[in-house]
Amino acid sequence: SATILAACMFGSASAADMTVGFSQIGSESGWRAAETTLTKQQAESRGIDLKFADAQQKQENQIKAIRSFIAQGVDAILVAPVVATGWDDVLTEAKDAEIPVVLLDRTVDASEDLYLTAVTSDLVHEGNVAGKWLVDTVAGKPCNVVELQGTTGSSPAIDRKKGFEQALSGNDNLKIVRSQTGDFTRTKGKEVMESFLKAENGGKDICALYAHNDDMAVGAIQAIKEAGLKPGTDILVVSIDAVPDIFQAMAAGEANATVELTPNMAGPAFDALAAYKKDGTVPPKWIQTESKLYTQKDDPMKVYEEKKGLGY
Ligand code: AHR
Repeated sequence: SATILAACMFGSASAADMTVGFSQIGSESGWRAAETTLTKQQAESRGIDLKFADAQQKQENQIKAIRSFIAQGVDAILVAPVVATGWDDVLTEAKDAEIPVVLLDRTVDASEDLYLTAVTSDLVHEGNVAGKWLVDTVAGKPCNVVELQGTTGSSPAIDRKKGFEQALSGNDNLKIVRSQTGDFTRTKGKEVMESFLKAENGGKDICALYAHNDDMAVGAIQAIKEAGLKPGTDILVVSIDAVPDIFQAMAAGEANATVELTPNMAGPAFDALAAYKKDGTVPPKWIQTESKLYTQKDDPMKVYEEKKGLGY
């Protein structure tokens, strides 16, 4: 029967029999660290043997790690791709070795048949949600916006920019006056915000900050305070991720809104792999995670307490 045939093709491996290689980007943000923690926890609770490789932000390290996973004959590979392009060769090698690849949290510009599925949010939508919040909040008043972009060439940096710009289009009161990468880190977020503040009349000409992640926003909040301005009031702050620290900033009135990104990408990825290994069930090409908006009205300290411990 078809079931027996599939069992022969894929073996009768349950999740517990699986060895999975995970090529992680690094630990640039609180969100990324939580994703790593949860992936390890999820693997352990399912009895999966996880081989973890930290690429320290370098695509070449990710490619090396994937090649080493292929050579070791792992059952599956998880990869959080640091940038969107340049994956065709190594993904083809995994495909030729019949090792399914699952993309985590970022997308790639490669043919869909080179990976089993992608567990990601709708990255354009996230930018859109942040932009709509700002449009509604300023309600027609003139507003100069500065933007801290994520890692250059990464799908969240490209798509979150696009979605935000879409939300602003047609609202001529809102203008993005500066936009630069802050590499998704706190340190760089602070540094670049300092240069934005200097360039824009000590910050007096800035009405809002849009940061592609919370960590850069947290760094920028510090810079705004050091410049003698009030983040959250003098300069509105909207970002993405919903890490615990941004809820503390929100409770203090220093951040205004964030769009939630779950750090538990591995749960759905392992579910899909277990079903695929068991009887060949092919998951949808995209397993989409939710993007919920939080503002100061959402009892930030309560959310902070809830988030703590969930990988953070
Ligand atoms: O790809 C997801 C993004 O990467 C998160 O928003 C950011 O914090 C991380 O570094």
